[in-house]
Amino acid sequence: MSSRRLERILLVGFMGSGKTSVGRSVADRLGWRFIDFDTEVEAEAGAPIPRIFEEHGEPYFRALEERIADRLLGETGVVLGSGGGWAAAPGRLTDVPAGTETFWLAVSPEQAVARASARPGSRPLLAGPDPLERASKLLAERAPVYRSARWTVDTEDASVEDVSSRIQEILTREYPDLRWK
Ligand code: S3P
Repeated sequence: MSSRRLERILLVGFMGSGKTSVGRSVADRLGWRFIDFDTEVEAEAGAPIPRIFEEHGEPYFRALEERIADRLLGETGVVLGSGGGWAAAPGRLTDVPAGTETFWLAVSPEQAVARASARPGSRPLLAGPDPLERASKLLAERAPVYRSARWTVDTEDASVEDVSSRIQEILTREYPDLRWK
């Protein structure tokens, strides 16, 4: 019998690492809810992320994101897809509430930019003239923090279902009593 209880799963990683699609898949497998930080921020602000950045600036977005993340980390039976920058602030992954398992979905800057380009204009931080250079720099800064997630899953050449299966394998081993659908 597992003595610990899993209450929530927190996915972190760079833009385009698949947090939303993998998060939905894992949530479906568990019959849990999936909640995306960005979606909650947009609902609260009543505006899409690029417009929040444009009209209020990044610090305003970060403050809103922090407040919403604090609330979501109190939910149970949820898979949480964080925004790519949320985990990058110090202490974020070391201060998660008990019952949280953290996964870093790792991706290269090349792959991140390729995936992000499927939705042009959706990532203000990659909107400049050289998205690959920007992504490489940001990812190099953030990787040490992302790495402090308890688990790392490589998403580079993996499908959403592959990554989701890997997470299921890890959690099944760690929490043998966890019920999957
Ligand atoms: C950001 C990532 C985005 C979004 C915002 C800032 C970042 O989320 O929160 O554009 O700083 O990496 P995704 O990682 O879901 O794209």
